[in-house]
Amino acid sequence: MSSTEEIIGRADVNDLDAILAIENPHIHETIHAVRDNAEAIFTWDYEKGARPALAKLYEKSKGAMWNAETDLDWSQDVDQEELAKTGLQNKPDRDLEGTPFEIWTDKQWVDLDIQMQNWALSQFMHGEQGALICTAKIVETVPWIDAKYYAATQVMDEARHVEVFAKYLDDKLSGHYPMNAHLGLLLDDIINDSRWDMTYLGMQIMVEGLALAAFGFLHQLTNEPLLKQMLRYVMSDEARHVAFGVLSLKEYYSELSDAEMMERQEFAFEAAVRMRDRMLFQKEVWEHFGVDPKTAIELLRTTPEADMFKQMLFSKIVPNCKKLGLLDPNDGWLRKRFQEIGVIQFEDWINTDDEYEQFSLENMTDAPKVAAAS
Ligand SMILES: [Fe+2]
Ligand SMILES: [Fe+2]
Repeated sequence: MSSTEEIIGRADVNDLDAILAIENPHIHETIHAVRDNAEAIFTWDYEKGARPALAKLYEKSKGAMWNAETDLDWSQDVDQEELAKTGLQNKPDRDLEGTPFEIWTDKQWVDLDIQMQNWALSQFMHGEQGALICTAKIVETVPWIDAKYYAATQVMDEARHVEVFAKYLDDKLSGHYPMNAHLGLLLDDIINDSRWDMTYLGMQIMVEGLALAAFGFLHQLTNEPLLKQMLRYVMSDEARHVAFGVLSLKEYYSELSDAEMMERQEFAFEAAVRMRDRMLFQKEVWEHFGVDPKTAIELLRTTPEADMFKQMLFSKIVPNCKKLGLLDPNDGWLRKRFQEIGVIQFEDWINTDDEYEQFSLENMTDAPKVAAAS
C-alpha cells in the first residue's frame, strides 16, 4: 500500500504550494508524444453478444450518432458577456478591502468570468482529445470483441466532441488556453499504463465521470441556446461512455485479488486528486490577470459555493466506484480517501449504468438533473 506522497507527490492533499508548483512543461509544443506501453490484442472469438450489456450499448450507439456541423445551429451569435453572466460568478459576495481585488472594476470581474469560460471550455476540449486517444487505445487493447465494437463507436463520438468544443471556442468565444498541468499529468499517466483496464478506470470512470457531472452542471446553469444544446448532445454520449466503463470493469474487477484491487484503488485516488486540483486551480487565468494565483485562490476559491461545486463534480464518480467494488477492499482504503477529500456522501447516488438511458437524445427536452439522487 503506497502513501499519499508516493501516489500524488505530496503528503497533504490540500497543500496549495505543492499544487501550484506543478507546471505544464509542454506548454509551447505543437504536439506531445506519450509512450503507451501496451500490446495490441487480436481476438479470434468473434461471437457477437457474448457480453449482452456491451452489445446493447453498441446498438444504441450506432443509432445515436449526430453530426456536429448540421445538428447544431452554428449561425446564431453568442454574446460572451451575457454568457459569462449565466455561468459561475467569480466575484465573491464579501468585502475585498485590503486585497488586490479591492480596486477591481465591474468590467474586470466580467473579463474574469469571460477568461474563466475560455479556460474551462479549453480544458474540456483537451480532455475530449484525451478521451479520443484513450478510447482508440481501448479498441487495441481490450480482449473482448463486444468491447472493441463499442469502443470504436466511442472513438467517433470523441472526435465529434473535440470538434464541437474547438469550434465553439474558435467561433463563439475569445481564446484558447493550453492544457492544465494537472489534467495533463493525469492523461499521461492513463495513457502510459500498460494494463487495459487502467485506461477504462482513468478515462471512462474518473475523467468522463467528472465530465458528465460538470457538463450537467453547466447545462443547468447556462441559458445560451447553442452551448446548452451542444452540452445536451455531448452528455447523451458521455453517459453511454461512463456506462461502458462500469459494465466492462464490473466483470473484470469481480475476479481480481485484494493486491490487484489495491493498485486500482490507488489509481482512482490519484485521478480524483488530479481532477480536483485541475478544476479548482485555474492558475493560468490568474497569471493572465497578473494576480498571484495563491492569493486569488485563497480569497475566491474557499467559499461555500466553490466547495459545493467541487464536491458535486464527484457525484457520478463515487457511486460508479462503489458499483465496481472499489471502495471497500483492503480495509476500505478508497472509502477512507474519499472521506478525506469530502466526497463519500455520493456513494448511494444513482450509478451511471442505471441511469444512462435517461440521457439519450430521445429524452432531449428532459435532461436529467445533475443533483438527482437515487
Ligand atoms: Fe467526450
Ligand atoms: Fe466520452
